Amino acid sequence: MDSETNHSVAAPAPEILNQLNICLYQVAILRAALELEVWAKVAEGEDSADRLSAAEHWDLLGTRMLLDDLCSLKLLAKDGDQYQLGPEAEHYLLPDKSTYFGRLLLADFSWAGNSHLAGAIRTGSRPIGFSATAPEAIDYWTGTYSRILAAPEKYLKRWDVMWDALGIHGHDGLRILDLGCGPAPKSLALALANSGVRITLLDWERILQAARRFAANLGVDNQVTSLSGDLASVAYGRNRYDVAFLGDVTHFFSREQNAHIFRKAYDALVDRGTIVIKAVRREYIDPTTPQLAFYAVSAGGDLYDFEEYKAMLKHAGFTNIVDTNIVDLEIQPIKAIKRA
Ligand SMILES: C[S@@+](CC[C@H](N)C(=O)[O-])C[C@H]1O[C@@H](n2cnc3c(N)ncnc32)[C@H](O)[C@@H]1O
Repeated sequence: MDSETNHSVAAPAPEILNQLNICLYQVAILRAALELEVWAKVAEGEDSADRLSAAEHWDLLGTRMLLDDLCSLKLLAKDGDQYQLGPEAEHYLLPDKSTYFGRLLLADFSWAGNSHLAGAIRTGSRPIGFSATAPEAIDYWTGTYSRILAAPEKYLKRWDVMWDALGIHGHDGLRILDLGCGPAPKSLALALANSGVRITLLDWERILQAARRFAANLGVDNQVTSLSGDLASVAYGRNRYDVAFLGDVTHFFSREQNAHIFRKAYDALVDRGTIVIKAVRREYIDPTTPQLAFYAVSAGGDLYDFEEYKAMLKHAGFTNIVDTNIVDLEIQPIKAIKRA
């Protein structure tokens, strides 16, 4: 019996597709609310559909539906005809706060929802929208750091565990080069552990400003210096660091770019100095993490596995290349040694 005449086989319900279709609308609602800065307006007192639409000259029906849909998404709460921000919206959805998450989400929308991803997969031409390794991504990064800036103690404690597992302990005179540092929670954890630790941070200037503020809040700014600019071209110096750290940045670079950066780090390390690479790796990626999100934002990056990192590190001159799996943190840093 062919499939056309087999009426006894019930068609499966398109459950997954229906769910995805709802997600598409939810994403569009979130984007509209971010563009309209709805949370800031509600917080300022435009807290009913009537007041908001009148003050902003928006369509009343659309405004009411948007506010109600945001309640369904738990990004607003409603009491009578009055809307309020919950703790999450207070923290992450007010543009004036350093913890604002909207920049990250809006930056991600620059590629989502259009047809460029299919085109990139066809041709390999990427990044789509912005590049994670260029200064244009600064707003994106600033958004991702809001969680760290909101709860520094929690994040710093976590990284003590990583350094312990790697056998790297804060001691007087330890010099660390943190490449693509962001707000530098990992290296600053070592600075906090010992006041004799010295950290050199490298990132774009605007990111460094945030990192310096973060260090000042932690009371370790006197232990920190910085180098600003492109980590592929800024001079790191020679024979002056005990540890070079690359946290969640190498997966955005091509093999050739990483080999170049690793060689610069090799030159910057003292003899027997250590390079540590923490990255999203193909062997360990969480199945709920969209891999194409990494593909979309870089020209040549990849979720390299240990063997690929080993080849890049060897090429740069490193030896004793070791994989670690810190199960508690679900991270797998790679460590290698310079032997001049
Ligand atoms: C995912 S964040 C990681 C931040 C930090 N290393 C950590 O582990 O939390 C990547 C950082 O690398 C920086 N970055 C990316 N490409 C860069 C480049 N070409 N030059 C300097 N910094 C760069 C970004 O600005 C961003 O702060």
